[in-house]
Amino acid sequence: MYTVKVKIPQTKAIYYPILIGSSTLEKAGNFIKDHTAARKMFVVSNNTVYSLYGEKVRNSLLQAGFDVNFLLLEEGEQYKNINSLEKIWTEAIRLKLERKDAIIALGGGVIGDITGFAAATYLRGVDFIQVPTTFLAQVDSSVGGKVAINHALGKNLIGSFYQPKLVLADISALNTLSPREFKVGLAEVLKYGFIEKTCGLRYFDSSFTDYLIKNKDSIMAIEPSVIENLVKYCCELKASVVNKDEKEAGLRAILNFGHTIGHAIEKCYNYKNINHGEAVAIGMRGAFFLAMQKGLINEKYYENSINLLNQYEMNYKIVKNVSPDSLYKAMHVDKKVRSGKIRFILPANPSEVEIFNDIKEQQVIRSLESLY
Ligand SMILES: NC(=O)c1ccc[n+]([C@@H]2O[C@H](COP(=O)([O-])OP(=O)(O)OC[C@H]3O[C@@H](n4cnc5c(N)ncnc54)[C@H](O)[C@@H]3O)[C@@H](O)[C@H]2O)c1
Repeated sequence: MYTVKVKIPQTKAIYYPILIGSSTLEKAGNFIKDHTAARKMFVVSNNTVYSLYGEKVRNSLLQAGFDVNFLLLEEGEQYKNINSLEKIWTEAIRLKLERKDAIIALGGGVIGDITGFAAATYLRGVDFIQVPTTFLAQVDSSVGGKVAINHALGKNLIGSFYQPKLVLADISALNTLSPREFKVGLAEVLKYGFIEKTCGLRYFDSSFTDYLIKNKDSIMAIEPSVIENLVKYCCELKASVVNKDEKEAGLRAILNFGHTIGHAIEKCYNYKNINHGEAVAIGMRGAFFLAMQKGLINEKYYENSINLLNQYEMNYKIVKNVSPDSLYKAMHVDKKVRSGKIRFILPANPSEVEIFNDIKEQQVIRSLESLY
């Protein structure tokens, strides 16, 4: 079992752990018992995840002596909304969940984000535990305490910062992911390669992108030891950023590399037919194009980066009925907008990114046009 520690300033807890290992879901109850005084557990999941892991988690919680209740939400990004949130609140009230009880998210990033926001707001906050079961959720979304729902007008617009008491990532759960869902997690992994130096950590002898190039075949074959390495290192990178800037006053914005365009794509698709990771992969291509236009990076770094995305089959395109103009408009309704200006995280050097608020409309439109 590997532990990544996330430090949270200004809270009683010095840190909370991300526990990364194999076959840990069957022991979830024991791990959870060590990190909360709650006796009543309210687990939020969906049908797919419940049918695979629900009973295992339920039994383990029961064996650990918890009172256990489940709620299964509808599945998909289009349900990361106020209706699902209300279902959690209503069920929590019906179950008479008290302040000393806890809410567990068992699932991917969608379940984690909605459930975390419900835990942050129900009775002004109850203990929250993340049990991420997708690759994307294990390498990224379960860590760092951003919880949110989407609004019809924009992605993740309603939310909070609310740190879990524990993140329990069972690598074995990734075996049941579809190839598509596995790949969307890789999009966030590649993001960490592109921002590694700015995060301020170094783990491998060479850069993380070199590791991703050299180990591509093992990664695509989902070899457990390599995948575990990726989860550990991405969590370490994210924790190192969150430890310095929990509430995105500055540095944390770099984690949004690829997300300015990505979030606009998700919104313009009405949160259907495209996954978050796929939208982010397109967004990173757009960010590389913009950076080259602005003269921030040379052609060689641009080509190497696009090649890396292509090697991992991240060559998604935007559908024709979503226009560059509609995407540009959608970018203005985003948490990243400052004083009306769209904020871009752009590559500046290999594995380094910078934050820009002064990109001209013409340049943005040109980069969007390159993504069809
Ligand atoms: N809070 C953050 O910091 C943060 C960071 C990145 C992304 N996100 C959010 O994460 C969401 C995307 O998360 P996601 O990619 O995990 O999508 P998701 O939660 O929709 O899960 C994808 C699919 O995989 C299924 N699934 C989950 N675990 C499975 C398993 N072990 N085996 C088989 N199927 C399984 C789910 O039922 C779902 O159909 C987006 O809403 C995005 O905004 C949040």
